[in-house]
Amino acid sequence: MRRVEPVAALTGVVRVPGDKSASHRALMLSALAAGESTIEGLSPGLDVAATSQIMIQLGAQREDVAGVVHVSGPASGLRASESSLQCGNSGTTMRLVSGIVSSIEGEHRLEGDDSLSRRPMDRIAVPLDLMGSRVTGEGVRVTPPLTIHGSRNLRGIDYRVPTPSAQVKSAILLAGLAAQGDTIVHEALRTRTNTEDMLRLAGVQVTSTNVHAGRHVVISPGRPLARAWRVPTDPSQAAFFCVLGLIHDQADVEVIDVDDAPERTGFLSVLSRMGADLTLTPGTSGVTIRARSSQLRATEIHASQIPSVDEAPVLTVAAAAASGVSAFRDMGELRLKESDRFEGSMTLARLLGCRVWSEGDDYFVEGVGGASAFNPFVINAGLDHRIVMSSAVAGLAGRGCDIDGADTVSSSYPGFFEDLASLRR
Ligand code: S3P
Repeated sequence: MRRVEPVAALTGVVRVPGDKSASHRALMLSALAAGESTIEGLSPGLDVAATSQIMIQLGAQREDVAGVVHVSGPASGLRASESSLQCGNSGTTMRLVSGIVSSIEGEHRLEGDDSLSRRPMDRIAVPLDLMGSRVTGEGVRVTPPLTIHGSRNLRGIDYRVPTPSAQVKSAILLAGLAAQGDTIVHEALRTRTNTEDMLRLAGVQVTSTNVHAGRHVVISPGRPLARAWRVPTDPSQAAFFCVLGLIHDQADVEVIDVDDAPERTGFLSVLSRMGADLTLTPGTSGVTIRARSSQLRATEIHASQIPSVDEAPVLTVAAAAASGVSAFRDMGELRLKESDRFEGSMTLARLLGCRVWSEGDDYFVEGVGGASAFNPFVINAGLDHRIVMSSAVAGLAGRGCDIDGADTVSSSYPGFFEDLASLRR
């Protein structure tokens, strides 16, 4: 159990770790390339460590020199591993690795922890099967462990992703690298673009065309080139410190070098609508966000404003501190994350003292009008790093909390509690 004590005032500067999404992809593309790539700013989290270990099992070599990660992909390409591939808590690892091993001849077994073992993999099994590999798991939702029969003869597909998902898009694009013919992925809502952007940087032919709120991406088969990667920081981690600075009644917090990709920073528009005192200053390695104590007002948040909905739990904490009723619309995908974040976000707001209810895929939070009115609380994080961090923000700005299972924060942000402590005044 981890205790978080409230603090009277908060000030300081934080630089959050390297983006998980870009880190996974940098390791994967480096392993797929022939020769040595370097990666600066790799995420220190366990999720990314799982991807790294799997790339080594598939034949890549890794050496860390003075904080720079050197990865060499074998000239002959990756090959199947005798032992199972451990994805831990990381859905991104499992879904993207599935795309990669689909084109590697042999049988691959992918396993995850209790949280990942409950998450649906049918969303990747369907398109990867269409391409010619065979992905099997438990039940109709194809939950892990997965067995994948890879094939050297994948074919390109033209696929409309039913529910917008960067992981699904990426799994298909990575399989498309080794398919015969082009692969086309249509998404109705633009999700993060790391895979297509990074493949392009690695010399693979990829074109992206925006269509209304969505995009289609076409990839031609090819092998990524080795190169030097620099991983930007993770905006979804910056969101925790932004909300903390806003809801704490004596705070002035800066988050530096934040990647400001439009698919990742929707949470800033949501907070601005809530009346947040946020200042954004562009710099050479991203934006600096300054968040100062603010009296927030309720708003309506549609899932499409925060694609992948990673920021929903911490925005729920913001809504809990606001005055009025906030509506979180079309949030069904939250149920399928590391934990059921639909229930988890509502539980957290309820523990803080809010009136909370749901209708279908929408939930509503009636804020208590300020974090100083939050109740002290005890919560079980349920193997979900974002529930840990959202709870800690609420406890620090409010009247304290105890978090059971707080260690799971290490899946994305091992130094989170130290960075939080550095802001005490
Ligand atoms: C990720 C995509 C998102 C996000 C996850 C990381 C990625 O999921 O929640 O933490 O790196 O591709 P979706 O697949 O729902 O977009």
